[in-house]
Amino acid sequence: MTRQPTTDTPPTAEEAEFARRLGALTLEQKVRLLTGADFWSVHPEPAVGLRRLVVSDGPAGVRGELWDERSPSANVPSPTALAATWDEPLIERLGGLLAHEARDKGVDVLLAPTVNLHRTPYGGRHFECFSEDPLLTARIGVAYVRGVQGGGVAATVKHFVGNDSETQRMTLDARIGERALRELYLAPFERIVGEGRAWAVMAAYNGVNGHSMTESPLLREVLHDDWGFDGLVMSDWFAVRTTEPSARAALDLVMPGPIGPWGDALVAAVREGKVDEALVDDKVLRLLRLAARVGALSDVPTTARPPKYDAASVAARLRETAAAGFVLARNEGAVLPLSRAALSRVAVLGPNAAVARTLGGGSATVFPPYTVSPLDGIRAALGDDVEVTHGVGVTPQTRTPAADLSYLRHPDGSGEGVEVRFLSADATLLGSERRTGGAYTWMGSYGPGVPTGQVARVEVHTVVRATGPGPYAIGGSGIGRFRMSVAGTEAFDVHLQLPPGADLVEALMTPPQRLHTIDLAENEETEVVLTHDIVSADDSLGEAVTMFQLNLQPPHGSDDEEIEQAVALARAADVAVVVVGTTEEVESEGFDRDSLALPGRQDELVRRVAEANPRTVVVVNSGSPVLLPWAEEVAAVLLTWFPGQEFGNALADVLLGVTEPGGRLPTLWPASEQGLPATEPVDGVLTYDEGLFIGYRGDGRGGQQPSRYGFGHGLGYTTWDYVSIDVPGETQPGAGLTAEVRIRNSGTRHGKEVVQVYASRPGGAVERPVRWLAGFAVIEAAAGEEAVATVTVDARTFEHWDTEAGGWAVEPGTYTLEAGPSSTNLPLAADIAVGQESNRS
Ligand code: BGC
Repeated sequence: MTRQPTTDTPPTAEEAEFARRLGALTLEQKVRLLTGADFWSVHPEPAVGLRRLVVSDGPAGVRGELWDERSPSANVPSPTALAATWDEPLIERLGGLLAHEARDKGVDVLLAPTVNLHRTPYGGRHFECFSEDPLLTARIGVAYVRGVQGGGVAATVKHFVGNDSETQRMTLDARIGERALRELYLAPFERIVGEGRAWAVMAAYNGVNGHSMTESPLLREVLHDDWGFDGLVMSDWFAVRTTEPSARAALDLVMPGPIGPWGDALVAAVREGKVDEALVDDKVLRLLRLAARVGALSDVPTTARPPKYDAASVAARLRETAAAGFVLARNEGAVLPLSRAALSRVAVLGPNAAVARTLGGGSATVFPPYTVSPLDGIRAALGDDVEVTHGVGVTPQTRTPAADLSYLRHPDGSGEGVEVRFLSADATLLGSERRTGGAYTWMGSYGPGVPTGQVARVEVHTVVRATGPGPYAIGGSGIGRFRMSVAGTEAFDVHLQLPPGADLVEALMTPPQRLHTIDLAENEETEVVLTHDIVSADDSLGEAVTMFQLNLQPPHGSDDEEIEQAVALARAADVAVVVVGTTEEVESEGFDRDSLALPGRQDELVRRVAEANPRTVVVVNSGSPVLLPWAEEVAAVLLTWFPGQEFGNALADVLLGVTEPGGRLPTLWPASEQGLPATEPVDGVLTYDEGLFIGYRGDGRGGQQPSRYGFGHGLGYTTWDYVSIDVPGETQPGAGLTAEVRIRNSGTRHGKEVVQVYASRPGGAVERPVRWLAGFAVIEAAAGEEAVATVTVDARTFEHWDTEAGGWAVEPGTYTLEAGPSSTNLPLAADIAVGQESNRS
């Protein structure tokens, strides 16, 4: 019953050429290519015309080799936001933008998309994955990959497979039933590799069913043999821990390098007959094929070029994409869109109003060239005739952020910034940098001319300038020894250490902090020097990575004072827009969430503001679901995810009705935490007890969490009647079909609708969810017009994985196809007879 490979590789002239070049390499040369040259690249090999290949994260943008403000990257909306568009052509265009960014930064291979599923909203990287549904994930993933690779840049589908949460991700064994594995977790990879023809896959840190994913038989048996994948499998960073088992598996590239478990040990294993050289050859061939595809192999030209973008067209694309993913979850009394003419004063409140939270934390982090906050976006759109007031309401962060440039003066008096100095053990100055930010990362090198091995200390010199009077908390965060002096006097000298068992990325993203508070008068300046010893006994990352921050928290009022002020502003305004949410401190790679509540006293803030002004619009700025206990007490709820650098402009467009909120939920938003799958392994094992019933697939089953907003839910600015559904009366196993769904725009303005079709199998003998997504189509129509959505329903819709036969099977009989605007609102239905299986292979 196994499917034929979908991407077989005929022995073309090109393949023959790869084989010829492979033949020119010694075993040592071949093996050298199979471990990264450094953090972000693969060795060049002039003997076969291979240039250095550069890889880069993904998915919030394309970072490039430098990870700081000197190399800004277009910051695109979080993958949850992209999936919320349900709009494949739009996502393909965004993929083209990412290809443009990659080429601009000399990147050949983008480490995205992340297509693990939203098994549970606790997952720290939930924001970085598309959806809880395998079909929506797959279709958005295919579009993304087509866009990226259409521009000649490789996409890397990650993390294969079962990396659906972060707690103990390096070691946990995910026990996933065979049906859930095939029907849910592998399904997006299958389609993106097959239909999307992805050129690379990343093997995850974790294990699945007893095998670490960098050694897993799934790589060969499923990826190679069942699906015919002809691309390259690279490891997640530091995920390979063995030589022979991983080399025997269908893993091709160990990342990062140059040190790793292959190298000389693999050469020896081949010489001793423990690993077949043919396996090494296949890995090198795959690397050469990838190189050819991205234009890194001499005399193998590629024609693919990314689309052209300039700053204005990047901004326009990001603004359009962000708005297309905003989900209007509630809109009582049609409070939205706001009529600009009727406004004289708008209060923009909340902790996420003035500081744009555009991305989550982890390796996906990029440094955008700018961000537009909700406050800035709304002010710009409303102009001078409308007064826009602002109050922060509450300060929910527990960490002090990296120092904002506006407080930092370069010590030479030449304007904003800091001077970073690299010093040797005997305090010789080895080099320096002028920097315009408080977050510092160097990976493998401190830049041209600085002898990496000799750097023993990094110093940040700056002058802090107070913008207002009060207590300023200033300090550093990182791992190892930190000293700080203020106005020449030592403020602290500490060794900052991680808690035992912390994740590598947690170490990089939310390391321990040490602060020192000083009182400053308005415009007062004081000299600050932060010193970090990079080589110390407890620097668990060693010399390869140096990452730390200079932190600064300016004076702020107490939450009680800020809430009262926000309430007063709300009372005096025509409309209160409250922007609440999370930050990269809460949603990040490296750890899971332990609560879905909004951090701090944000729920209280919303309730108090809503009491003061019935026209309260709550904008939820989080990458993944949070609990909204006040949802029925406010006029409107707009879910914006982490929307990328154009946040504020896209928000203003939607609030004022320039654009419709185009999003529909790619994952249900629970009303409570009851019954949600946990992420804490027991004795190293994380059992996927819920089986097939994640998210909305658990709807209608006892003990599942009630949803606040169902899967697929989202309102626009018009209304729709679902008129009719037309499907063939029968189909055969292995054959797809199209459903034609007629809808009418019953409102007063042009609109977009995502027509969704769900399948169910009443009375079937095979255990299944009550319903599952079968297809969808995005459709637009003018006010009063009818339109027909043609929804493709694949053969796979009617199939289940037959664990006994080890293949896909169909239970013949009557299936129902229902159509509507969400999984919980399906006004149309039609039955379809699916015939007996005959001679399928
Ligand atoms: C992440 C990957 C990422 C890699 C390189 C890992 O920690 O899991 O998604 O691509 O780092 O930054």
